Parts: sequence; C-alpha cells; structure tokens
Amino acid sequence: MKTTHRDVARIIREKGEAVAFTGAGISVESGIPAFRGGQGLWERYDPMEYAHISAFMRNPAKVWTMLREMGDVILRSTPSPAHMALGGLEKAGLLRAVVTQNVDGLHQLAGNTNVIEYHGSHRRTICVGCGRTGAFTEESMRTMPYPVCERCQEALKPDVVFFGEQIPSSAMLRAGHEALACRVLIIVGTSGVVYPAAEIPFAAKANGATVIEINVEPTPYTDAVTDHFLQGSASEILPAILDELGFARA
Ligand code: OAD
Repeated sequence: MKTTHRDVARIIREKGEAVAFTGAGISVESGIPAFRGGQGLWERYDPMEYAHISAFMRNPAKVWTMLREMGDVILRSTPSPAHMALGGLEKAGLLRAVVTQNVDGLHQLAGNTNVIEYHGSHRRTICVGCGRTGAFTEESMRTMPYPVCERCQEALKPDVVFFGEQIPSSAMLRAGHEALACRVLIIVGTSGVVYPAAEIPFAAKANGATVIEINVEPTPYTDAVTDHFLQGSASEILPAILDELGFARA
C-alpha cells in the first residue's frame, strides 16, 4: 500500500530521533534553482569549469561571474514552507539535526539550531591564501573583477566545498555521528549522486534507521534504501506532516 504523509507522521512520532538529510530540492520554492535538470545551474555552467577548485585558482574572475549570480539569488532568498516545517519539527522535539548539502543558510533562518553544512556556506567567504573567513555580502559581489583578502590580497571565494576540495572534517564527523544516532532519516530533495555526502542514507539504513524520502521524482535511493517514498513537493509534504503531528511551523 502507498505510504501517505499520515503514515510518515506516525513513524516520526513513534520512533523519534529523526534527522533530515537535505539537498537543493528543498530550496527550489525559496527561488534557488536546483543544480541538475530544468533551470539547474549545472545545465548552464560546466561544473568542471566553474565549480572545480583548480578552475577557480586558474581564473577567479571567470568563476566569480557564476558565484555572483548564485550569491545574489541566495542573499535574496527566504526559507520555504519545507524549511519552516523542519524548524517546527525541531521545536517539537522530533528532529535532532539537519545534515544539508545546501550552502544557502536557509535551515538556520527557519529556526534549526543543529545544522551540519556538509558543503560549507555561501554566506561566508574564505581567503584561498590565508584561510581567513568573513561574511559574504553585497560588497563581495560588487568588487570587480573579484574580491580579495584585506590581509594577504589573495582571492576570496565563498566558503563552499568546490569539486576537488575536501569536506570539512568537523562536518564529516558530525554527519557520520547523526547517521548512526538517528532512528528515522528523512531525505528531502536530493538527487543523491554527489559523494561522499550521498553515503549518509546508506550509513543510517545500515544502522537500523527507517528511511523516508521526499522528492518530486524517484532517485537512486528510492529502490536501494528508502522504506517510504512520498512523491511531491517538499513544501507541500513536510508542512502536511507537521500539521498531522499537531505542531505549528517555526
Ligand atoms: P540536485 O540538483 O542534484 O537535485 C535536486 C533534487 O531535488 C532532485 O532529485 C529533484 O527531483 C528534487 N526536487 C526538485 N524540486 C523539488 C521539490 N519542490 N520538492 C522535493 N524535491 C525536489 O541537487 P543536490 O542533490 O542537492 O555540491 O546536489 C548535490 C550536490 O551537487 C550539491 O550540494 C552541489 C552539487 O554539485 C557541490 O557544489 C559540492
């Protein structure tokens, strides 16, 4: 029988200790296009030319044309109903953490306090020379051809993980811990194709978690690890689950 949002609400209530694992699909209704398919960033920009650290080091000015566009969209965005529902779940004591591949900072704005940013944050800059971090601001985007570090004059980049870069070790450790600690893993809006992030649901499942997946279409997880697949928009399904549980959004 097809799982409904009511069944999922019951599972979350009964098992508790849920963790959300999110991707770009949760931010689509915040006005941030996903990476793959349709309006996806990687349909317009070749990631090897615009999102690989070697490409950035070779030509920061070129890569900043894309970073400016992305930064502008992120700074103007606000949390979607799906983000707000996850904020509400934490407030209700039913969500212990959010592990996100997103770099938009919207989970924090929706009230989640234990957010593990696996791919870093576009709301910070980092100097490729000395590692100094700062806020990503309108000024970061206005500076031509690209912003540089006040201290060492090397290029600044958003503090996001580019292809060819390591995942921050603290994010990796904390995400690994949450994958083992959760009793329910809620996968939301990710294509599940970028590793090592994509391993997280496999680790949770191997440790006995019930895996719920919310996506507009099936993914590589759906047949491999998902116990209950809810097809549709995260911004409709997550608020419906929270309503069913009788809690308000954050
Ligand atoms: P993708 O763009 O690969 O996938 C977005 C997923 O969201 C797809 O499976 C869509 O079907 C789904 N989706 C779209 N709209 C949705 C909606 N309203 N509700 C629910 N689901 C929806 O994005 P990610 O999986 O997040 O990494 O991509 C993973 C990583 O690849 C990103 O973190 C980024 C990228 O390269 C780096 O930049 C390192």
